[in-house]
Amino acid sequence: MSKLKIGVIGTGSISNVHLDAYRNNPEVEIYAVCDLNEERAKASAQKYGATHVFTDYNELLALPEIHAVSICTWNNTHAPISIAALEAGKHVLVEKPMTQTVEQALQVQETVRRTGKVLQVGFVRRYDPNAQILKQFIDDGLLGNIYYAKASSLRRLGNPGGWFADKERSGGGPLIDIGVHVIDVCWYLMGRPKVRSISGSAYHLLGNRSNVRHLSFYKAADYDASKNTVEDMANALIRFENGASLMVDVSFTLHAKKDETAVKLFGDKGGAELEPELALITERNDIIMNWAPQVDHLSFNFGAAFQSEINHFIDATLGRKETLSPVDDGVEIMKILCGIYESAETGREIVFEEA
Ligand SMILES: NC(=O)c1ccc[n+]([C@@H]2O[C@H](COP(=O)([O-])OP(=O)(O)OC[C@H]3O[C@@H](n4cnc5c(N)ncnc54)[C@H](O)[C@@H]3O)[C@@H](O)[C@H]2O)c1
Repeated sequence: MSKLKIGVIGTGSISNVHLDAYRNNPEVEIYAVCDLNEERAKASAQKYGATHVFTDYNELLALPEIHAVSICTWNNTHAPISIAALEAGKHVLVEKPMTQTVEQALQVQETVRRTGKVLQVGFVRRYDPNAQILKQFIDDGLLGNIYYAKASSLRRLGNPGGWFADKERSGGGPLIDIGVHVIDVCWYLMGRPKVRSISGSAYHLLGNRSNVRHLSFYKAADYDASKNTVEDMANALIRFENGASLMVDVSFTLHAKKDETAVKLFGDKGGAELEPELALITERNDIIMNWAPQVDHLSFNFGAAFQSEINHFIDATLGRKETLSPVDDGVEIMKILCGIYESAETGREIVFEEA
């Protein structure tokens, strides 16, 4: 059987992880790549053996033999490229955040429904082995009713600069860039409850602190510290229709002693931590038990999660599995992210109509 031809649009940092995972999948052929920056696209094509190189994604999408694409571009292009790809009959794996606004998310959702193609949102943390281990314990009832969760992604220094720091192209700062992951995985493990209200704050007080020396951090392919129009810290309290609540705090920079990632869930029968380390907490015979699962990686396993995400995407495009991160979830997460920004801007709680 001939291999499925894959195209990757955007060949910056994260595309390498997609491409590594595609290369490891025996059913696919890395066929075409595209980047506005021609040199970068060519270098990627050479590294991964793609035979077709473009600077205009429309040309890549016009190739009828392409089965599916990964979209690894700036956030402001996720909606238009997703829609164009779906319309061209391609299955789509779009990096997070799915879009910049709820309106765009609804347009993408409508296009998925109309075209019948698979769109998987790059909520890679759902695909991490530990998230799936925890999901199984939750489905088995270990935590009971989950009524509270906490999602933190705090960098003391880590504004990636370039487009990430340009609100027009990114849609926002740490909330939409790294907060999206921990919010999403908490919400997924909570059973995807409908959001009821959001009260959020965002701060733009420390700048990008590009003056700091002797401490390295993740940078955009086109790192440039001269522009910074995004928040450096945000927090929120999210309430759900089932009465559960989620507390969030995220930063690109903060006067914190160290970086911190936390994903914690609390139910009426037990609790769990996915980050910083997988742990299960419960009570047996009037004794509080902290269970430490014996697994190879106690926290997020970047390579395994991306491989699982890409393999799952390919299976979904072939109708073997449902995607774990469908467009509908992309829409709900955009409601949460945009709700936090709106609440922060207006200084008011945002209340959603009951569905
Ligand atoms: N899932 C994760 O853990 C994770 C991690 C990092 C980044 N991301 C996401 O991946 C996306 C890319 O991030 P990155 O870190 O690779 O950024 P990057 O700046 O390293 O690369 C982005 C690339 O996209 C190209 N590009 C932009 N618009 C384009 C267009 N219209 N057509 C073709 N190419 C275009 C740029 O030239 C650049 O090479 C973002 O949406 C980001 O949020 C996800």
